[in-house]
Amino acid sequence: MTPSSAPSARPTIVLAVSGSIAAYKAVEVARLLKKAGARVLPVMTRSAKEFLGPSTLSGICGEPVREDMWDPSYAGELHVELGRSADLVVIVPATADLLARLASGRADDLLTALALCARGPILAAPAMHPRMWTHPAVARNVATLRADGRVELIGPVEGEVASGERGPGRMAEPAEIAEAALARIGPRDLDGRRIVVTAGPTVEDLDPVRFLSNRSTGKMGFAIAERAAARGAEVTLVAGPVSLETPPRVKRVDVRGALSMRSALWEALGEKLDLADALIMTAAVADYRPAEESATKLKRSAEATALALVPNPDLLAEVGAARAGSRPVLVGFAVETADEAGVVAYARGKLDKKRVDLVVANHAKDSFGREDNRATIVTRDRAEALGVLPKRELADRILDRVAEGLR
Ligand SMILES: Cc1cc2nc3c(=O)[nH]c(=O)nc-3n(C[C@H](O)[C@H](O)[C@H](O)COP(=O)(O)O)c2cc1C
Repeated sequence: MTPSSAPSARPTIVLAVSGSIAAYKAVEVARLLKKAGARVLPVMTRSAKEFLGPSTLSGICGEPVREDMWDPSYAGELHVELGRSADLVVIVPATADLLARLASGRADDLLTALALCARGPILAAPAMHPRMWTHPAVARNVATLRADGRVELIGPVEGEVASGERGPGRMAEPAEIAEAALARIGPRDLDGRRIVVTAGPTVEDLDPVRFLSNRSTGKMGFAIAERAAARGAEVTLVAGPVSLETPPRVKRVDVRGALSMRSALWEALGEKLDLADALIMTAAVADYRPAEESATKLKRSAEATALALVPNPDLLAEVGAARAGSRPVLVGFAVETADEAGVVAYARGKLDKKRVDLVVANHAKDSFGREDNRATIVTRDRAEALGVLPKRELADRILDRVAEGLR
């Protein structure tokens, strides 16, 4: 069976094992993931096979163990296929050497190559002697992985390691790793729901070389699209100009200015708003655009000048005004520079004015371009301050509310 020949409604997890004595514990993680209903595709490094028999892992997973990028029995690019099909990659255990290879972006074996191709999250459970874990070189690699934000670590913990010594370096317990893995995949509570997400800035052209835009990078919207798809939704992502990869199983429509975003949005929602169950508007749509877009480059002059701007349509308010019942569920974002009370008060105003169900209020300085966000979810009857969360986690909290609204 090839990774791509068996598409499945079940979440697909690549369980990768590297060469530590703790490798035997990967079998228990595989068992727990299978028991929870996941399809588990096992991958081992060459060293891992010194510690654990591949037959044990393939027996538990019901899938062949993959080790070799050059496997002649596989027609295609195995690392790309595995990276594409995995909703999650879990590395149990992760050696010091593997962390170094991941931190430096190496791709000289199947595991590191597929980690570079992985479209979903990667969770790694380091296991090593405490002197290895506390070595500055390992600490540096861990810091690089954390800064890159593509590999999340679980553990290691303080405790007894293989040599009988104690210290930080013991792998997190298999049950804890399996639970964390399943939490990253999350529930399939949005199965079959159609969700439209807007993301990124809009770009309003002045002339062929200049434009007005804003600091939005699209990360929040892309995180929501990714998590909604992972939770089973059919997602259409209407994206302004951003340099982000399309999340797995997400239909992406690229747009530029507010007017093209408006057209794409209505196409996705349907004229009668009957093509979507929820709309989540994270895009930072420009409030104004130049009154005229010059077909040729505007020339400089010695005079001061003023730019004539016209208001853009308020895309969220338009949908809110057109909505008759409670579908689609409408989620807006409010980014402000005011203090917490001011941001929440502004979000409340937006709820009523735009007739939306919930507004995610956040601060410009805590949001734009960052991997995390400090947000408050504001509904008519409550304001829930969530503190600082990674955007993917915040996405799940917002989607929890959307799922509630859809029940
Ligand atoms: C008996 C034995 C136990 C080992 N245990 C660990 C370990 O727990 N953690 C670790 O980082 N390396 C450990 N190593 C070293 C790795 O196996 C070695 O660095 C190997 O190159 C890792 O390859 P891999 O990351 O491709 O699996 C151990 C080596 C041996 C011989």
